[in-house]
Amino acid sequence: MKALLLLAISYVVQCWWDVGHMMTAQIAKNYLKDNRPDTLAWADSLVQDLNSLTDGKSNTFAEAAVWMDDIKETGTSFMNDWHYTDRPINPDGLLIKIEDQNRNINSIYAINQAVSVLTNSKTARNRHTVFKAQMLRVLLHVIGDLHQPLHDTTFWNSSYPNGDQGGNFMKVQLENGTLVNLHSFWDAGAFAFSPNNSFLVRPLSQSDQEYLNKWSLDVIKKYQFTKYINLDMTNPSVWTYVGYRQAIQFVYPMIAGSNNYNKDYVKQAQEFCEENLAIGGYRLAQKLIDIYDQILSNEAKLSLVD
Ligand SMILES: *[C@@H]1O[C@H](CO)[C@@H](O)[C@H](O)[C@H]1NC(C)=O
Ligand SMILES: *[C@@H]1O[C@H](CO)[C@@H](O)[C@H](O)[C@H]1NC(C)=O
Ligand SMILES: *[C@@H]1O[C@H](CO)[C@@H](O)[C@H](O)[C@H]1NC(C)=O
Repeated sequence: MKALLLLAISYVVQCWWDVGHMMTAQIAKNYLKDNRPDTLAWADSLVQDLNSLTDGKSNTFAEAAVWMDDIKETGTSFMNDWHYTDRPINPDGLLIKIEDQNRNINSIYAINQAVSVLTNSKTARNRHTVFKAQMLRVLLHVIGDLHQPLHDTTFWNSSYPNGDQGGNFMKVQLENGTLVNLHSFWDAGAFAFSPNNSFLVRPLSQSDQEYLNKWSLDVIKKYQFTKYINLDMTNPSVWTYVGYRQAIQFVYPMIAGSNNYNKDYVKQAQEFCEENLAIGGYRLAQKLIDIYDQILSNEAKLSLVD
C-alpha cells in the first residue's frame, strides 16, 4: 500500500491531470456519439489534422485533450495563462496588485478565442485551417482544466502575500506526514486519476482505450446528463465562477478542517472530481454542438446570399 502511494505521488509530479483531460473528452465523445454524431465527426476530423505535427501521443479525440500540456514541454509558453482563471479568494481583503486582479488572458479568453476561430463565417465548414485544428484542441483541454476548482482561483492572505498560485504553494499532509502539493493532489483527482505509474499512459494501447471508454460510460451512467439540466451549459465565465465557489466551499475547507490525509478526504475528493469530469464532458459536448450549429447557420446564410 505504501509503495503504491509512493508511485502515485511521483506519477503526479510527472503527469498532471492527463487522465482527467482524457476522461472529459471521452465523456464528451460518448455523449456526442449518441446525440450528435455530425458534430463528433466534424470535431474528430479537426483533431486528425494535427496528428502529423505532434509527437504521436495525442492522435485520438481523448488523447488530443492533453496536447496543450504536451506543447509546454517543447517550449511553447505563450498559452500558459490559458489553462486557468485565477479569481482571487482574499478573505483578509489584502491589497492585490492590479495586474493580478485584472487578468484578461485566462481560460475564459481561451474558450472565447477558440469559438471565434471555429465559427468564423469566412471559412466554410469543410475548409480546415491550422488554427481551427489547434483551437479545437484548446477547447478539449481548457474545458477540462476549468472543472478542476484550483484552476479557477488563487488564495491570498498574509501567509501567501503573492497568492498561492491555485494551491501550488499549499500542501496536503499524507498519512505518514509527507506533504504533497495541493494543486497536484487535485490535478490527480486525489490519486483516482493516477493509481500507479503505468495507468493510461499515452499513446494509449487498445486495452487502455477500452478501459477509458468503459470508465467514461460508467461515469455517464452514474452522473446522468438529465441531473444537470439546470446548470449553465454555455457560458465559460459562469463555469469558472462555479469552480471558484467549489474551491471556497469544498477544496480549501477540507484542508483547513484537518490539514492531514484521511480516507474521507480522499474518497470525497475522488467522487467530487468524477462528478466534475461528467459535467465538464457534457459542457464540452454542448460547446462543440453550439459551435457546429453556428457553422451550419453561417452556411445557410451564405447560401441565401448566393
Ligand atoms: C511517506 O509516504 C510517502 C508516500 O508513500 C513517501 O513518498 C514518503 O517517502 C514517506 N515518508 C516517510 C517519512 O516515510
Ligand atoms: C492563511 O490561510 C492559510 C490557509 O487557510 C492558513 O493556514 C494561514 O494560517 C492563514 N494565514 C494567516 C496569517 O491568517
Ligand atoms: C494500475 O492501476 C489500474 C487501475 O486500478 C489497474 O487496473 C492496473 O492493473 C494497475 N497496474 C499496475 C502495473 O499495477
